[in-house]
Amino acid sequence: MATLRIPDRNVTLSDPSAVRQFLDKRGIFYERWSACGDFPSGAANEQILTAYNYLLKPYMEKGGYRTADVIRVDERTPNLEGIREKFIREHTHSEDEVRVFVEGQGFFWFHMEAQDDEIFAVLCEQGDLISVPAYTKHWFDLGTFPKVCAIRIFTDQAGWVPHYTNSGIDQRYRW
Ligand SMILES: [Fe+2]
Repeated sequence: MATLRIPDRNVTLSDPSAVRQFLDKRGIFYERWSACGDFPSGAANEQILTAYNYLLKPYMEKGGYRTADVIRVDERTPNLEGIREKFIREHTHSEDEVRVFVEGQGFFWFHMEAQDDEIFAVLCEQGDLISVPAYTKHWFDLGTFPKVCAIRIFTDQAGWVPHYTNSGIDQRYRW
């Protein structure tokens, strides 16, 4: 279950409805998903997509999303530091960044220019679906001990290209 933290205000939200309401007010879609049936840790990508298909299919149809895949990052991932570096710098995308957390965890950081440059982070864990709206400044921290498996949902994979802001703001915040 996601936890939300606003470091500048020393606020932490862990109540599910409070987290959802906070994100909803800022145009960030969040909901809880659970798999249909069990699958083992480290299951094949196809098995994961099949287990979530009953939610994935209607979500994709409704939102006009065309493809979904599974990303897995842990300490055995080749070029881990390169991947960490790619995710952890503030950037935007020209399409929504939709992730369903299947295993492990990670920290999505948001920089809301429309809300007086408010900065907050969401600790995403198993069962959390979060959709970062297109053109929203954000970054993703894998944490000290990277372990995450997530479904990615795309309108067009080309839209995922990160456009870096090079603001350096990402270096001022840690969970
Ligand atoms: Fe991103």
